[in-house]
Amino acid sequence: MSRSVVILGTQWGDEGKGKIVDLLARDVDAVVRYQGGHNAGHTLVINGEKTVLHVIPSGVLTERARCLVGNGVVVAPQALMKEVEGLEARGIEVRSRLGLSPACPAILPFHEAMDRAREAARGSRAIGTTGRGIGPAYEDKIVRHGLRLADLADPQRLKDKLESVVDYYNFLLVNYYKAEAVVLQAVADEAARLGEILKPMFTDVTGDLHDLRAAGGKILFEGAQGSLLDIDHGTYPFVTSSNTTVGGVLTGAGVGPRDIDYVLGITKAYTTRVGGGPFPTELDDADGRMMAERGVEFGATTGRPRRCGWLDAVAMKRMARVNGVTGLCITKLDVLDTFEQVKICTAYEGVDYFPVGAEEWQSVRPVYETLPGWKSQTKGLTDVGGLPSAARAYLDRLEELIGVPVHMLSTGPERDANVILQHPFSG
Ligand code: GDP
Ligand code: IMO
Ligand code: MG
Repeated sequence: MSRSVVILGTQWGDEGKGKIVDLLARDVDAVVRYQGGHNAGHTLVINGEKTVLHVIPSGVLTERARCLVGNGVVVAPQALMKEVEGLEARGIEVRSRLGLSPACPAILPFHEAMDRAREAARGSRAIGTTGRGIGPAYEDKIVRHGLRLADLADPQRLKDKLESVVDYYNFLLVNYYKAEAVVLQAVADEAARLGEILKPMFTDVTGDLHDLRAAGGKILFEGAQGSLLDIDHGTYPFVTSSNTTVGGVLTGAGVGPRDIDYVLGITKAYTTRVGGGPFPTELDDADGRMMAERGVEFGATTGRPRRCGWLDAVAMKRMARVNGVTGLCITKLDVLDTFEQVKICTAYEGVDYFPVGAEEWQSVRPVYETLPGWKSQTKGLTDVGGLPSAARAYLDRLEELIGVPVHMLSTGPERDANVILQHPFSG
């Protein structure tokens, strides 16, 4: 029986990860975020009430699961506390259930300023980041001058480290980007205030996970973004700054490969992308508009419209391999209910090997296979028997092309709109 399951997106994010994490979190002891930051927007809909989570793990609306934030997550203290307070205002107990690794890199105001200044300087080549300071915060971690949450909770350490980092950022912001400087004292005071508030939530996330595993507990790892946004395996440089693929679990939570029993690949029945960058199956026609409209495709974090297109089985097969995906969860199947025909990209022309970066991706010409649409309602479906035969044929073909079985379907935004063919924790 699986006791440790990873949920990650196989496309460019917004596949519906949050909804599935919330659903499966009902039976687990801990839900763990391991990479990304508040660039994520994970939507949960329970009895018609919508909740969008950014850093707090999507297990927070269940009774039992502890919500852990591993060392691989970049944490903006102010944004995190806003999220905590928003939930508390609805009567949800958060602080006693939330555990933060003190090793998480802190996102501070100058990271956000730098993210925005860089994007502005890139002009038409902008990545279309969420403007949350994600890239600069990870950059500081790798350069080894970043501050961690632990530093915020220690006034002397905070002061020592912050002075030189702020000096460095202000030099770049003012002289190179012609942007405004940040004020050291204001940043320091706010960071110290937030450090005090966060300190009681510090825990040894890695140690806790190993103890839980030894005690036979169930763990759910919650990925953010999607595999094609991975810093190494994605459409570089139009990617995010973390490893969104499965390796991120090991480094971002401190577990070993044998601590993962099952990987659930969340895959939208079509494809969306928000921000710039290559997207071979993107549509600029009535089908694309129908996907956007029926799927309500607007970013959960920034509200930007999402670009839409057909499912790309070539990229999905690659991402299934990169992640060692055990089973697929196909989400938003209901969005395709009204289509006369559905298409799948089955091959790439114009490239000899899987594209390594944006330039190679630009040469890809997708080859499509067309299947009949089912033209009947799957919305809200919970029973596999009710699946129209054309929808079944579409899913069978996806399994064949991607090389991984479909274990779950999501048929609506509501928590219980799912068909479970094989439960990830049962295998
Ligand atoms: P995440 O970032 O992967 O958690 O996904 P988002 O929450 O950003 O985007 C998914 C959107 O689709 C949200 O608005 C969900 O409420 C919605 N959603 C999730 N699953 C389904 C589904 O099966 N059908 C439909 N129609 N909407 C869904
Ligand atoms: P969830 O977890 C979709 C995209 C941004 C941009 C690129 C880099 O909700 O699936 P960043 O701010 O990370 O430096 O931006 O990555 N991006 C996402 N797209 N869903 C997300 O998260 C995303 N997080 C970042 O739009 O193209
Ligand atoms: Mg999202």
